[in-house]
Amino acid sequence: MDHFTYKSGALHAEDVSLTDIAKAVGTPFYVYSTATLERHFRLFDEGLQGVDHLICYAMKAASNQAILKTLARLGAGMDVVSGGEYQRAIAAGVPPERIVFSGVGKTRAEMEMVLAGGLRQVNVESEPEMHLLNEVAQSLGKTVPITVRVNPDVDAKTHAKIATGKSENKFGIPISKAREVYNLAAQLEGLQVVGIDVHIGSQLTDLEPFALAYRKVAELTETLRTDGHDIKRLDLGGGLGIPYSKSNENPPLPYEYLDLIKRETGHLGCKIELEPGRLIAGNAGLLVSSVIYVKEGEGRQFMIVDAAMNDLIRPAMYEAHHDVVTVVEPAPRQPVMEYDIVGPVCETGDTFAKERAVAQVKSDDLVAFRTAGAYGAVMASEYNSRPLVPEVLVKGDQFAVIRPRPTLEEMINRDTLPSWL
Ligand code: LLP
Repeated sequence: MDHFTYKSGALHAEDVSLTDIAKAVGTPFYVYSTATLERHFRLFDEGLQGVDHLICYAMKAASNQAILKTLARLGAGMDVVSGGEYQRAIAAGVPPERIVFSGVGKTRAEMEMVLAGGLRQVNVESEPEMHLLNEVAQSLGKTVPITVRVNPDVDAKTHAKIATGKSENKFGIPISKAREVYNLAAQLEGLQVVGIDVHIGSQLTDLEPFALAYRKVAELTETLRTDGHDIKRLDLGGGLGIPYSKSNENPPLPYEYLDLIKRETGHLGCKIELEPGRLIAGNAGLLVSSVIYVKEGEGRQFMIVDAAMNDLIRPAMYEAHHDVVTVVEPAPRQPVMEYDIVGPVCETGDTFAKERAVAQVKSDDLVAFRTAGAYGAVMASEYNSRPLVPEVLVKGDQFAVIRPRPTLEEMINRDTLPSWL
């Protein structure tokens, strides 16, 4: 569910007309709904009532500080995967004890940063990382709480580029080696084992892979406890899918997923940590764009819009579907056309949708790409020297630009010329 609906003939984010935002900000822009962000966070938080838990929003999905602060105020922690994300979370006022640090290639500098600033735990992904973290912790005179990310060798049945839980993927340590690695961790004085971490992929639309993975983690918890390790936290990752299209995707509901977690891990008495990203931000954001031209091709019509693959790369990168709707509510008898919806970038890959049914549009009409809140703005680039797309946050009848569009000068002036030119 989201808070983007037609009111008085125009698509609104909560109580703000997207046409008004477009007039103020220009297009393209991302717009997020506070009410949707909060609703999604609460689905998780309240769904785990009665279970000791912490929801660490995977901020890679949408990391604007205004979004982080909105969630942190409700009690969210953050899952960070770089020194940059860590600093952003701290800048947004997230308490360090609610920050977990994930990622397969943490550098020494990043370790030093998070240990100096403090954090809840590091999710360690390999033995070399474990040794380096131990060395850094000892050099700072600290003991760092860790989990080890295990790779349960489970097929997440999602797009190959975002599946992470198979043995051929680069993530975590094989679950078959877990006892050995935990025994090593126990000997390293800079580390304190506190739990187990697992994350098998993103946009999962089936509960079965979660069930398989979590069962393996539950078994491992008991084994490791027998080995003498104090396993008290289970970080069960993120990954629950969302409906991108009303017609063809039917992912499990959050409460079904949370029930599964309770079923598979409830008997262990562990604190449950979750790292949802997409489920919180995905349906909370739209990308709004203007139609530049409608161009008659051979046997097809191109809707050329002012957003492009540099602003929203998911269709080009993952063949992802985003529903496209007009910002002005289609009139009852307005014809529906089939469009190839494309951006201005000089690549055929800059195609958002093919043969997509949308109410007939003309130049300067506004269209919105739905479900673009997660992995949208954060994956944007300046390819083709197109300035980074701005972001807007709505709350009730108010809106605020939370990241302005850089001017062309600002973008260009970041280049520095060497002395010989
Ligand atoms: N935890 C870890 C360790 C992760 O690697 C990820 C996502 C998450 C949590 C959050 O997963 P979520 O709940 O959002 O599914 N750019 C891709 C998605 C990449 C996901 C990477 N890891 C896309 O646009 O589909």
